[in-house]
Amino acid sequence: MTPPPATDVNPDMSAPFLPLTRPSIDEATIAAVGAVLRSGWISSGPKVREFEAQLSMLFGGRPVRAVNSATAAMEIALALAGVQAGDEVITTPMSWVATANVILRAGARPVFVDCDPQTRNIDLERIAAAVTPRTRALLPVDLAGLPVDRERLYAVAHAHRLRVIEDAAQSMGANWGGRLIGSLGDLVSISFHANKNITTAEGGCLVLNDAAEARRCELWRLQGVERRGESWDGMDVTLAGGKYNLTDLAACIGLGQLPHLAAFNARRRALARRYFERLDPALGCELPPADFAHSNWHMFQLLLPEHAVREVFITRMREAGIGIGVHYPAIHLFTLFRQLGHRPGDFPHAERIGRSTVSLPLCPAMQDADVDRVCAALGPALAAATVQRAGA
Ligand SMILES: Cc1ncc(COP(=O)(O)O)c(C=O)c1O
Repeated sequence: MTPPPATDVNPDMSAPFLPLTRPSIDEATIAAVGAVLRSGWISSGPKVREFEAQLSMLFGGRPVRAVNSATAAMEIALALAGVQAGDEVITTPMSWVATANVILRAGARPVFVDCDPQTRNIDLERIAAAVTPRTRALLPVDLAGLPVDRERLYAVAHAHRLRVIEDAAQSMGANWGGRLIGSLGDLVSISFHANKNITTAEGGCLVLNDAAEARRCELWRLQGVERRGESWDGMDVTLAGGKYNLTDLAACIGLGQLPHLAAFNARRRALARRYFERLDPALGCELPPADFAHSNWHMFQLLLPEHAVREVFITRMREAGIGIGVHYPAIHLFTLFRQLGHRPGDFPHAERIGRSTVSLPLCPAMQDADVDRVCAALGPALAAATVQRAGA
């Protein structure tokens, strides 16, 4: 597939705007979505089942159920793991807030463990000290698509008899020990949101352990409804499930994306390598771990020098026609989590990352020259951001 160019025309400027990311959807997929629209069956049906079957094949035959977001997948996973009011779930403060919100929505308490400053993922060394008799599960996150060390993760989980819900929202196509994330471990939640390495516009999936768990996932996914017998007349409800099913329209996009997963991720790796080659070390930015063995390079994130004003940096980059993201402010400093008693200083590594992280444009549709353009713009933008602080 020839990806469309990554640049859009920015209505406010004559220079083409390079967005942080954009999906690559081929014409065959667009046509297939049209066919589903015409078919008369647009909600969950054969396309969802086909998508699930293909995902299951990818993940070594493990059962997979598609849902309308990874947030939904994690909510279901917490229910399947038996997480209830009063339980504790150990997670990282450096993630999209969905990771912690789902724990609260289950009535449980998120117990944050600071990140490792190198990987920016949960510090596995610190988990044991956070375990209490109320701990029920671990909810680690593969930030930017860099997998948490699965051997060490499951060693801690087994030592404390904890379930694991892998927030692999960002790590589709990443691997651990040569095995695809999703093909190993306990419950694995993956996102197909528009900015992910493959997309269904909105959507996600949960990888499960066995058929019985997959069946319970189906109940949590759709109102707890059980159909009995062969006829259409036989229905019972056994639990208060949600409304989390994926549509055939979305699944059809996913089916069109899956064949490109390897090529998309190879292109992301190549662009990431180019960032490492072209970024000027004299700028004083902290680079991500140069992991070309495991990561799917979902994002390329720099930590700005402490003296730079990020807001000014982002504005200057936008003025240069380049989109920059912030993924993420540390979760425990949001009002909702301060109300649980958290304060600045609780998790210094996550806070430093949260203050200084910026995501550079990275998506398969980008050209090598786009990376060069970003790297050339960084110096002047950082200089402006630094002068501003000095003058503040
Ligand atoms: C780390 C992480 N967890 C969870 C989610 C939630 O995924 P979704 O938007 O599909 O609910 C995201 C989405 O950005 C994410 O990046």
